Amino acid sequence: MARFRGFPALSVLISITLLLARATAQIPDPCAGYDHPPTGTGLLNGRNDFPPGFVFGTATSAYQEDIQRMKYMNVDAYRLSISWSRVIPCIEPYVTIWHWDTPQALEAEYGGFLSSNIVKDFEDYCDLLFEEYGKKVTKWITLNEPVTYVMRGYDEGLMAPGRCSVYMDPITYGRYPQNMVDLVGTRLPTFNDEDSASLRGSYDFLGLNYYTAYYSMNNPAFDPEHLEYLKDSHAITTATGADGKLIGPQLGSSWQYLYPQGLQYLLNYTKDEYRNPHIYITENGLSQEDDPTQTIEEATQDDTRIQFYDSHLDSVLQSMTGYNVNVSGFFAWSFADNYEWNDGYSVRFGFYYIDYTDGHLTRYPKSSACWYTNFLNRNAPTGQTLIRQKVHSSKLQARPTAHRSAAALGGRRALPARRFSRW
Ligand SMILES: *[C@@H]1O[C@H](CO)[C@@H](O)[C@H](O)[C@H]1NC(C)=O
Ligand SMILES: *[C@@H]1O[C@H](CO)[C@@H](O)[C@H](O)[C@H]1NC(C)=O
Repeated sequence: MARFRGFPALSVLISITLLLARATAQIPDPCAGYDHPPTGTGLLNGRNDFPPGFVFGTATSAYQEDIQRMKYMNVDAYRLSISWSRVIPCIEPYVTIWHWDTPQALEAEYGGFLSSNIVKDFEDYCDLLFEEYGKKVTKWITLNEPVTYVMRGYDEGLMAPGRCSVYMDPITYGRYPQNMVDLVGTRLPTFNDEDSASLRGSYDFLGLNYYTAYYSMNNPAFDPEHLEYLKDSHAITTATGADGKLIGPQLGSSWQYLYPQGLQYLLNYTKDEYRNPHIYITENGLSQEDDPTQTIEEATQDDTRIQFYDSHLDSVLQSMTGYNVNVSGFFAWSFADNYEWNDGYSVRFGFYYIDYTDGHLTRYPKSSACWYTNFLNRNAPTGQTLIRQKVHSSKLQARPTAHRSAAALGGRRALPARRFSRW
């Protein structure tokens, strides 16, 4: 290393590497300190309940914060190491090509995704990725939650998750659904035959993100003078059903209700409506608001998260076994607490708690990290299927009618709490 002395930029690089290395130093056993590891609800035993080859993972976005910090320091390069011991045995990468981070230059030049110019630029960007990483990465996810991006990015009155069919119809059938054509009229772009042909069947697998569900109902106050994307469906969504009850127990963030059947419904529906696609659950998880008064020990006791995953995985399995929905994998969001868009660090999704205050971003395993670790243990005894304790059945009676809920599914953490107070 001595021979590089005198190159200040290089020493910056080296210290960054050390910093990053320290943040990811020795991973302790997430189950350390438990006499009896957390067991969940008894709905499932573990990975062996699923077919061989079913993929389990966790998802995170990029380390935006670290990159941001480096940029602030004016460094021009980022040296990173590939960890031999992590690559072999391999954890297979499922890479998302675009997670809402359109380059600002393209926004400025032609409005980003509002212009069809984006198609060529995005194609070039994809070609570059395939060329550089195509040999290593076989699972590419084109766009993360386009519907959320459309709402948050381009529609002011942020209200509800959109219809999950908005882009599914074009990529399955090469056209928008007829009711959408009728409702949106000339504001809806049209596809020529060539567009249509290249859209139809243009994906190998579908990545579904699921967090919660809402009821939807007709919007009696629809005002044809004030047209916006979110009003086009002539529907509003609400967590309270016609019976006055919530769709499920409210969870650690005000937008999220426990409704695991919603995932099962979404899977059944997707199979029926979209020609039985090959599906991965690319995100599912529980948001909890950060409580600064809690100790780390308290904040890492997250039995609710265990119940959340257990009941949602059970829903996935029921769709697979009961309705032959073709699901090949499940990615929990998130591996560690993350920077959650506008909410910043105020909500926590992770299996790992991150201490943002200690200067090292130390990771602490929550109970759920231990539970998932055991759940995924390939050597765990398969055992008899446990008696189904239907612990949630009383909480989950509120059910939307099939047709109503279809419009509300695919929901995510796109709804700020204050929006609910209007209803
Ligand atoms: C999914 O389909 C299966 C088989 O018809 C059914 O048993 C199950 O109730 C469906 N799930 C939902 C939530 O509709
Ligand atoms: C699921 O989809 C994959 C990819 O199209 C296919 O190879 C597989 O046979 C399908 N499995 C089932 C059970 O339909």
